[in-house]
Amino acid sequence: MRVLVTGGAGYIGSITTLQLLQAGHEVLVLDNFSNAKPAVLARIAQLAGREPVFREGDVRDGALLRGLLKEQRIEAVMHFAGLKAVGESVHKPLEYFDNNVQGSLSLLAAMRDEGVRTLVFSSSATVYGLAETMPLREDAPTGTTNPYGRSKLMVEQVLQDLAAADPAWSLCALRYFNPVGAHASGRLGEDPQGIPNNLMPFIAQVAVGRRAALQVFGRDYATPDGTGVRDYIHVEDLAAGHLAALAHVHGRPGWHVFNLGTGRGHSVLEVLRAYEAACGKPLAHEFVPRRGGDVAQSWADPTRAQTLLGWQATLGLDAMCVDSWRWQSRNPEGYGDAA
Ligand code: WQD
Repeated sequence: MRVLVTGGAGYIGSITTLQLLQAGHEVLVLDNFSNAKPAVLARIAQLAGREPVFREGDVRDGALLRGLLKEQRIEAVMHFAGLKAVGESVHKPLEYFDNNVQGSLSLLAAMRDEGVRTLVFSSSATVYGLAETMPLREDAPTGTTNPYGRSKLMVEQVLQDLAAADPAWSLCALRYFNPVGAHASGRLGEDPQGIPNNLMPFIAQVAVGRRAALQVFGRDYATPDGTGVRDYIHVEDLAAGHLAALAHVHGRPGWHVFNLGTGRGHSVLEVLRAYEAACGKPLAHEFVPRRGGDVAQSWADPTRAQTLLGWQATLGLDAMCVDSWRWQSRNPEGYGDAA
């Protein structure tokens, strides 16, 4: 299939682009490098043995999108491009709604005008908000506590309304739980800008000596060891879920939504211990008060994706940490020192 991947130079987008190429798809990557480095593209090509077509640009540029969809005869779109830092979204709501909501509307309008009707959208378990009943199924109540989460839920609602209005559309939202790890080659991985918001990239930077110590946000949650529990999913499993979703929804009009998680939760301390085993050294950490907005626990019921997509996560926490450490130790400054 001829697939446009927006944000295809990013963490999840790049590894999904690689898998699409390896599966024989033709890929057009669109990225504005707001949260990615050009060096990624050469690494994808090196690993895939062939190059994706690349255009630098922004999904909010409707004219650019229409030209690309036509020129490259695109048949389906995977939409990763967007801003994703929860804390930042609280301080910059307009930027988040412009990038994430307006960007998606711009993309959908261009797809409509060019007759492209298949979309796989990068959504997030954050749309479940403060839901307390675990595991989380796709019919769990949604509700969000920050502009980032609201932007994802808004786009999901746009997709549902569009699918209801026009049966020609095949529209799929994939609700990611906690993506972690790196490509097993050690050549593609997570390269956050500035201080990492998320747990595993922060631990990785402690392990490689870029950060002094991990701050564990709260040890008084109602969880087995008192620290937060999340459903961490290996980024390679996550990418494979995108290919399975694309195969399922292309030619199946309607609205589709799937949780992409392992169905298993791990605590902060379990992740820390697994990472210490992966890097072979103890990692400095200190217990500090809870981070505002955090929930105690969140993990997926992945049954729907297993049943309908024939997909399930295959890699466990140890592999997530080993692959993350291989990436981080070989690329101490991420792509910044890219060769
Ligand atoms: C995981 C656990 C923290 C950092 C967020 C977004 C979600 C998605 C994934 C985009 C929690 C603890 C963390 C640290 C810590 N992003 N922690 N010290 O908050 O579950 O989800 O990222 O789609 O939308 O909400 O992920 O990695 O930030 O936190 O103790 O330095 O690690 O309290 O229990 P989170 P996270």
